[in-house]
Amino acid sequence: MVDAVSKGFGERKDGRAVQHVTLTNARGMRACFLSHGATLTELHVPDRKGLLGDVVLGFDKLSDFEEKSPYFGCTTGRVCNRIAKGRFSLDGKEYSLATNNEPNHLHGGLEGFDKVVWKITEVGGDSEGAWVRFRYLSEDGEEGYPGKLDVSVLYTLTPDNGLEIEYRATTDAATPVNLTHHSYFNLAGEGQGTILDHELTIHADRYTPVDDTMIPTGAIDPVADTDLDFRKPVTVGARIDRVAGGYDHNFVLDRDAKTSSFLAAVLKDPGSGRVMELWTDQPGVQFYTGNFLDGSLVGKSEKDYLKHGGLCLEPQHFPDSVNQPDWPSIILRPGEEYRQVSTFKFRVE
Ligand code: GLA
Repeated sequence: MVDAVSKGFGERKDGRAVQHVTLTNARGMRACFLSHGATLTELHVPDRKGLLGDVVLGFDKLSDFEEKSPYFGCTTGRVCNRIAKGRFSLDGKEYSLATNNEPNHLHGGLEGFDKVVWKITEVGGDSEGAWVRFRYLSEDGEEGYPGKLDVSVLYTLTPDNGLEIEYRATTDAATPVNLTHHSYFNLAGEGQGTILDHELTIHADRYTPVDDTMIPTGAIDPVADTDLDFRKPVTVGARIDRVAGGYDHNFVLDRDAKTSSFLAAVLKDPGSGRVMELWTDQPGVQFYTGNFLDGSLVGKSEKDYLKHGGLCLEPQHFPDSVNQPDWPSIILRPGEEYRQVSTFKFRVE
């Protein structure tokens, strides 16, 4: 039965109440969220035998999300990924942001959208699925960004086992906006070893090479003849040892700008038969293999999250776009609306 249930989930250290929402579709697929960070905390999808498994990394306790989370399942913004040295200029004015990932700014700063409490404005279910909408008003000057931003995230569990994520934002002054979803997926189930045996396809001919602080050099290079060539399915672990630190790269999707929904990536776990497709209208996808996990975090299943225990496929505009005038712009102006739709769709093989 399609269902959408909201309940209290305790208080944060600052005393603010957090809500928990569970969505269930007609096929029994289930997703849970917290208003802290508009975070996806659980995602139960069937394997080839029909058994449900939770395929995203996360914690049971709110305090773990507050204190330990390496961006598990959250909404990252106002600008996801890195901004070189935390600096940019817009309409002739210089802005300086927190360098919370020395020497750069990462995922919106010290208290990015992953660490704020969102308001639930809608929870519902019908034959089209079950949904929850979170909204957040980001003040002018918050984390150093200009303009008051009114931002919302609508998560819908569709009848065909998709998790559709729609972001919308408006502003009262020009500001950069680049939002993404930061789930760490393990299609064998969270805590079930690593994702090194998953097979991945990314429909990208090109990527944005970075310097040694993970900032794009400005080049857009072909993936052909590199360890970043995922145009045909490749096992994630096959070449990972040749990639310094593991994968953490932005791929330039082969999408024509007019196509609203593009099949960006396909991930398959041969063991469980679970397959996940990522459809998006964004120009890029950051592929990150959980390189900073090291076994020290204990997840929902009481198991240690190993290095490469999950992988992220983050649909977004390219990192540091605000400092690359030739790249698709991330500047939102008054009167315009930012909108992104990305869907993680599940099936079995
Ligand atoms: C993104 C970045 C990574 C890392 C993670 C969070 O995926 O690209 O470098 O910062 O977020 O740990």
